[in-house]
Amino acid sequence: MKNDRGWLPGQRDVDWIAELGRPIEPALAAIEAAALPERIPIVDRDSGRVLSALAAGRRRIVEVGTAYGYSTLWLALGQPADGTIVTIDPDRSRTDLARGWWRQAGIADERITVITAKALEAFEGEEPALAGPFDLAFIDALKPEYGAYLDALVPRLAPGALVIADNVLWSGRVADPADQETNTAALRAFDRRVLGDARFRATILPVGDGLLIAGFRG
Ligand SMILES: C[S@@+](CC[C@H](N)C(=O)[O-])C[C@H]1O[C@@H](n2cnc3c(N)ncnc32)[C@H](O)[C@@H]1O
Repeated sequence: MKNDRGWLPGQRDVDWIAELGRPIEPALAAIEAAALPERIPIVDRDSGRVLSALAAGRRRIVEVGTAYGYSTLWLALGQPADGTIVTIDPDRSRTDLARGWWRQAGIADERITVITAKALEAFEGEEPALAGPFDLAFIDALKPEYGAYLDALVPRLAPGALVIADNVLWSGRVADPADQETNTAALRAFDRRVLGDARFRATILPVGDGLLIAGFRG
């Protein structure tokens, strides 16, 4: 337990942690620079570092919501060198660009399979790449669908798999009971459900926009 119970990590702590980390891959910096002017919502760099650390030893990963492949690349860089990722996004104009940045980072094409579809439709289809079992699932697409993504993912998880979801604090709105906006309410229900689900040991890291981390007990 911390000595000063009133202390909360601030920007100085975050900057210090970033300073300690190894320099960021140029391809990750290139994606950040491309995403910003286009307003493509990607995970925070701090969340990326968490994803990379949690990907260690996880050979088979599935991701819902690729965009420019920023979180995909953090995951791929943390995985074993023979690890694979299946990532789903209906927007091919984004994922075609993502492939270029993955190549720039030295990730072989065979390691990352892109499914160009809406995730719930892809899960309902016969797509062999989505058969599982997966060691890690990362959710970062439509907020009202998070619960349905989880339902589709559970039968595809290996025992001990991790489920991670981004935006689960939604810039502080989820913890504000007065905020009943659709995305906020969906994320609040998702958080409550997963943290109360006996099949998982779950918590939320107040990193970036809030990262839910759930260990699947099988
Ligand atoms: C928040 S972005 C993903 C960002 C990415 N995970 C990252 O951090 O680099 C959400 C993505 O979900 C995609 N998306 C929208 N509807 C979707 C659906 N039904 N299934 C899967 N992905 C969807 C969007 O095209 C968008 O690229």
